[in-house]
Amino acid sequence: MREVVIIDGVRSANARAHKSKGWFRNKRADELLTAVYDGLFARNPKVKPDDIEAVFCGTAKQVASTLDIGRLAWLAGGYPEHVAANTICQQCPSGMSALEHAARAIMVGDGDTYIVAGCEDMLAVPMSMGIDFAPRLGVRYAPGALSMGATAEKVAEVYNVEPEDMRKVALYSNQRAAAARDAGKFDNEIIPIEGHDEDGNPIMVKTDQWIRDDISLEGMAKMTSPFKENGKVTAAMSSPLTTGACAMIVMARDKADELGLDYSFKYVRGAMAGNDPTMMGIGPIPAVRKVMERTGMTVDDMDVIELNEAFSSQTLVVLRELGIAQNPPFDKVNLWGGALALGHPLGESGARIIITLMNIMKSEKPDSKYGLATLCGGFGNANALIIEKIK
Ligand SMILES: CC(C)(COP(=O)(O)OP(=O)(O)OC[C@H]1O[C@@H](n2cnc3c(N)ncnc32)[C@H](O)[C@@H]1OP(=O)(O)O)[C@@H](O)C(=O)NCCC(=O)NCCS
Repeated sequence: MREVVIIDGVRSANARAHKSKGWFRNKRADELLTAVYDGLFARNPKVKPDDIEAVFCGTAKQVASTLDIGRLAWLAGGYPEHVAANTICQQCPSGMSALEHAARAIMVGDGDTYIVAGCEDMLAVPMSMGIDFAPRLGVRYAPGALSMGATAEKVAEVYNVEPEDMRKVALYSNQRAAAARDAGKFDNEIIPIEGHDEDGNPIMVKTDQWIRDDISLEGMAKMTSPFKENGKVTAAMSSPLTTGACAMIVMARDKADELGLDYSFKYVRGAMAGNDPTMMGIGPIPAVRKVMERTGMTVDDMDVIELNEAFSSQTLVVLRELGIAQNPPFDKVNLWGGALALGHPLGESGARIIITLMNIMKSEKPDSKYGLATLCGGFGNANALIIEKIK
């Protein structure tokens, strides 16, 4: 098996998916993804678009302007036709799955270099668009029980998660994200892209829009659940609706050496796991256990962890059940905040958290060796993936 390395990764900032306030409200998803492809090639001049074997792009909602977005943004950007693309849907883990596909292809010798991307536009393509559940599914699960908010409420209830603890996760996430933003820690991953501020003025979007600087435990305590009467899960404890894109270059290590490229991260292993779709948020528990079993490692061997915060409730349950942490502040999880603060453009996030993980391991935790990224996904799809810092 050939070794696989990740050469570089970049992303757009995450913007609110809001028709009058979102900084990318006037941008199409393909334009965002093309800008990310452009940014990636611009700073990696030794990697030529002509030499890419294929693109794998994660997108949860493949309809309308995000239909086969991996391919269409590539073509719209003027990139070579002979490079094929496969836009993958595995709900929220789609972007992580894209990396799995590329890594496995390289390992068995099917091509040297892949682009792995993720893109979602939750404004132009809302979560509810185009859903037509199979009638027989309704016999097995009440359709309402499959909605993301309902699953977060169920996880909070079944595991008896205290609202106060969930608010602390949101506070931690937003404070860490704000501190990282203010210290310029995201600068290496965010490609500035033109957008518009809330008043309609053109701006270069360089920071994530959702981070709440004014967050407080007292303010959050006054909020109620939009999902369930007297429920526990509020908007503050939910990842917000977001638009964003990201991409990375993944290559066979021998090819990277031949090209004289700098790289620091090796793909170690990944795993997918399915779980009860009415409790979709706890999916990282079996996914992480599976990848640990396959590698013979334990979560204690992981120096830095990125866990996508779909909701506070599932974040806490996953960390507690895996024995990683009980309550924030966390010492090795989501050190630059998570989706509660940064946003969660569904199929993009699985790739985005790997890019952020690499940047944390390089700049914040230079002595770290192993990094774990994991996320849950709609309808009970979850992934976990380990990378190793080798230089
Ligand atoms: C929860 C959700 C329904 C909220 O949607 P929304 O109502 O459009 O969200 P908003 O951001 O406008 O928040 C609602 C209110 O809560 C307030 N709020 C949100 N977070 C807050 C915080 N941390 N502190 C104080 N107030 C907060 C907002 O300011 C807003 O108040 P306003 O109406 O007075 O302006 C939506 O974000 C959602 O569905 N999230 C989950 C997405 C999802 O399922 N993703 C997939 C996961 S697997």
